[in-house]
Amino acid sequence: MITSNRNPFKIFFQYLVLASFLVLGSGSQQTSESKPDDALDKRVKELLSKMTLEEKIGQLNQLSNPYQQTGTGVMTAREEKFDEMVANGEIGSFLNVLGVDETMRLQKIAVEKSRLGIPLIFGYDVIHGYKTMFPVPLAEAASFDRALMQKSARIAAIESAANGLHWTFAPMVDISRDPRWGRIMEGAGEDVYLGQEAAIARVHGFQGDKLSDANSIAACAKHFAAYGAAIGGRDYNSADMSERMLREVYLPPFKAAVDAGVATFMSSFNTVNGIPASGNRWLQTDILRGEWGFDGFVVSDWNSLGEMIYHGNVESNYDIGYRGVDAGIDMDMEGRIYVQHVKQLLDDKKIIISQIDEMVSRILLIKFRLGLFDNPFQYCDKQKEKELTMHPDHLIASRDVAKKSIVLLKNENKTLPVSKKVKSIAVIGPLANDKDAPLGNWRGSSTPNSAVSLLEGIREAAGNKIEVLYAEGCKLVLNTEQNFFTQLQYNTTDRSGFAEAIATAKKADVVIMALGETAYMSGECRSYADISLKGLQPELLREIKKTGKPVILTLFNGRPMVITDVVEHADAILNCWLLGSQSGNAIADVLFGDYNPSGKLPASFPYHVGQIPVYYEQMNSGRPYDPNPSGFSSKYRDIPNAPLFAFGFGLSYTSFSYSKLALSSAKISLNESLTIKATITNTGDYSGEEVVQLYIRDVAGNGVSRPLLQLKGFEKIMIEKGESKEVSFKIQPKDLAFYRLDKKFAPEAGKFEVFVGTSSDNLALKGSFELVD
Ligand code: NOJ
Repeated sequence: MITSNRNPFKIFFQYLVLASFLVLGSGSQQTSESKPDDALDKRVKELLSKMTLEEKIGQLNQLSNPYQQTGTGVMTAREEKFDEMVANGEIGSFLNVLGVDETMRLQKIAVEKSRLGIPLIFGYDVIHGYKTMFPVPLAEAASFDRALMQKSARIAAIESAANGLHWTFAPMVDISRDPRWGRIMEGAGEDVYLGQEAAIARVHGFQGDKLSDANSIAACAKHFAAYGAAIGGRDYNSADMSERMLREVYLPPFKAAVDAGVATFMSSFNTVNGIPASGNRWLQTDILRGEWGFDGFVVSDWNSLGEMIYHGNVESNYDIGYRGVDAGIDMDMEGRIYVQHVKQLLDDKKIIISQIDEMVSRILLIKFRLGLFDNPFQYCDKQKEKELTMHPDHLIASRDVAKKSIVLLKNENKTLPVSKKVKSIAVIGPLANDKDAPLGNWRGSSTPNSAVSLLEGIREAAGNKIEVLYAEGCKLVLNTEQNFFTQLQYNTTDRSGFAEAIATAKKADVVIMALGETAYMSGECRSYADISLKGLQPELLREIKKTGKPVILTLFNGRPMVITDVVEHADAILNCWLLGSQSGNAIADVLFGDYNPSGKLPASFPYHVGQIPVYYEQMNSGRPYDPNPSGFSSKYRDIPNAPLFAFGFGLSYTSFSYSKLALSSAKISLNESLTIKATITNTGDYSGEEVVQLYIRDVAGNGVSRPLLQLKGFEKIMIEKGESKEVSFKIQPKDLAFYRLDKKFAPEAGKFEVFVGTSSDNLALKGSFELVD
């Protein structure tokens, strides 16, 4: 039974305090979009005053299309009479209902047949595209290009809105430092600053100029919170960490999303320090609404309310209902907890009606902001659906984003770019002609097998001047079809294709191999303890290398992989992630030098799985790394401390040199900013883009230990061959804030070191300044 002693009158008082806090302002910056809007508030209140309790509870209820589930199936749902329920006002939102026809049909029932005509809000996982697929978000983060991330989200929104959707369950802004976790593919990787920048870009992209525009959709920052810190990298597992770690690493991208005006939040499945996130009032109300001033609504994850039973946290669904309401979870996704228990909880006076009113109001407010009351059918336009879905411009953009997301990891003897003068190329490997893998997991409503394969891209680029040979070599998985629910079976024994692959390699001037992961090896519930190349792939690579031909490895992956044993068997390595619809064309652009690779790793590639969690933002420890084997320093005895490829690493076909670090001042006060300038020169043979990275070290945190390096800025610039460019960064004291000993998130006077360079492990320029009171 419920054990809390939070009595309803206390709750009422706390609500008053919170409400006045919100009115007075929380100090967070908000876009005009999320500022309290009096006219809409009035409309919400008016509508609320007309609603019955049943209608209010209906607004809290979100159900999935039972034929397209993205979670554990409640198959009895197929017997539910959705049309009737909508007409009775028992459902406020659907997920996984797609397309103008079906959304229009249901919306008509809601608007025309339900008593108050409250429109439905249709949500869907539009993670990296609706039908035109873009690179998976982790890949896209490798572009270190804010405008590009915003653009792909914009296009995803345009296609989604044209297909009847109002709301995406994205961006996922979970930091992850554990590549075993399959959902690392859905975020921006390991770093706080990059995570914040990606969150902002994506929220702006999805939501456009105004939520009420017909091509804008509401974004959803998920999964609140610490979902990416699942212990052992095992999906759904508990997260346990200090409040400092939570506030400094895992929360900032969520805060950035709030400041960018994100309309909704999703709570996570996991427990955070022993308390399920979906029943966690401290997170969902005190921090999110109280400290940050978020005024949108929070949806649970798929039955994450119901799952609290398994956490050993509550005994019954009735208790869960109480916890969910108390925490501030407004909408129950597929849990059916609120519909079953809210009334009883009210009758029993465990909760009070003003709590439910607040929850409903927050949902209605977003529906109003989306313009659904003024024009419930503005997203239902057959003509637009036809014209905008996979519009040719979207495919061009997808190719552009894809080529800019590729990371060059190795390029010995200038193997790349491949000269267009070669006579023949062998394309080899189980993923070489795979048209499905590049679509990635969480692929919206894209058509299976619709991506441009590597082989197709190379053939297209090679034209009739270069002979392109192909051999699969071996299968990676034995399943003929894969989808969200497939249990994969790996090929570990069938080498029957090896001989043909070797013969094919021997006939060619250069070999391009395609190895890695298929689409469904990363994503939800795709955690792996072993993240090296699966099956016979390493063996195939070694055999091909023995032919003596130059070998270029194109690696497909939704996560950083352990490729330590593989690197020496390839002359060049391009990390190609899962790049979306235009994958093969984008990779060909890079292979032939039509585009000079500029991507940088958004997450470290471990040297060994035993290093995980692996990330650059390390503390020094009291016994800093010392290569002397007899020293008692913080290190592994059997492997290096450093990852194989560090955060921010990525080569180019050209080379860049860094010089002239200049700081505008040696001292700044708490109300001043600092300008940091550096000059970058393209010293190589190609024009190209460089991601210039700025890191800072807070030398002493006044009682709190600080990391050795923290990314605080990046700029991606194009520099022509032989040219130099100056890059300028602005640092404000708030950028130096941390969770101090006095529990304030604020900057503190002291000394700082500044580093500018090409990756977290290669920082050519160093300076220092002081922050003074
Ligand atoms: C579960 C996932 O964790 C979440 O990210 C997703 O949005 C929902 N299912 C809905 O598909």
